[in-house]
Amino acid sequence: MPKINLKLFEQETIHQLKKCQNIKELDNLFKEIFSKEGELKKISKIIPTLPPLEKKEFGKEFGRVKNVLLKEFERKKNELKEKFEKEKREKERLDVTIPPPKILRGHFHPITLARKKIEEIFQSMGFEIVEGPEIEDEWHTFDALNIPPYHPARDVLSLGKTFYLKGGGIMRTHTSSVQIRYMEKNNPPFRIIVPGRVYRLDEIDASHEIDFWQLEGLMVGKDVSVANFKAIAGEFLKRFFEKEVKMRLRPSYFPFTEPSFEVDISCVMCKGKGCQTCKRSGWLECGGAGMVHPQVFKNCKLNPKEWQGFAFGFGINRLVMVKHRIPDIRLFNSGDLRFITQF
Ligand code: DAH
Repeated sequence: MPKINLKLFEQETIHQLKKCQNIKELDNLFKEIFSKEGELKKISKIIPTLPPLEKKEFGKEFGRVKNVLLKEFERKKNELKEKFEKEKREKERLDVTIPPPKILRGHFHPITLARKKIEEIFQSMGFEIVEGPEIEDEWHTFDALNIPPYHPARDVLSLGKTFYLKGGGIMRTHTSSVQIRYMEKNNPPFRIIVPGRVYRLDEIDASHEIDFWQLEGLMVGKDVSVANFKAIAGEFLKRFFEKEVKMRLRPSYFPFTEPSFEVDISCVMCKGKGCQTCKRSGWLECGGAGMVHPQVFKNCKLNPKEWQGFAFGFGINRLVMVKHRIPDIRLFNSGDLRFITQF
């Protein structure tokens, strides 16, 4: 039987015990030492073989080592348990300062935002918001507006640019059709605006879309004049752009107004000095206007000797593009949230 150094055994076991990283490793080591076939059992088998003098001393030392090891195991076990609990606590800790994930919310389209603003401005000046159908007929879109079938203006104002529907009807090419619908049913005096979508068969590029938005306006009374138009349009433009903008009327032609004007505003980029956006002219076009043509009143069964008024048609996309320096009209229909959420 080999001689056993209990002191060395004790030290080695404690050394191994210290290396244990978790309860499982510790349990395995415990079994190696304390189980039925464990190291201590093996050592204890030596005792009966020893001579009486050594037996007593060895037995005492054996008992001491066994007790020491049991205590060490217990201590280590508690230490590892605590370590495990601490790590767990740390892992599960709630950090209330971590920013939460971004919640994607719905967002108004820039055209919708512009419409809301436009409506608010005109309502504050006593205008009623009116809507009309997007699927129209030729009477309301052309004939009643004094645009005869073979008049060149019908070409410009959209005959060649009209979407004809299979079951009859057309997509409206301008919101002026709603002027007619309103005057057929209502007696002056009145002031209305019609924000609405229009459709034109155009080749799409940076400044042309097949569907876009117009703002129609109509004010009729006993003595409504061009001066009223200038005052109201000027106030609208100032409040829409949130800055002083100059407005200029240029003589033009529309079959449904006489006289007719092109409405320009001073370039918001260069304040009229001339830049790339306004092609060095200092002015930007924003739509057409004029005094309602007597024939248009007649077509709506209103007496042109009794009533007079102004009408206008601005491009809403155009107004928004100028205000926010948007370079390409196609962005409006792109559905691109990177564009839409900027407004
Ligand atoms: N309807 C015209 C267009 O689409 C714009 C327009 C011009 C409307 C003059 C008007 C007006 O009411 O008076 O180009």
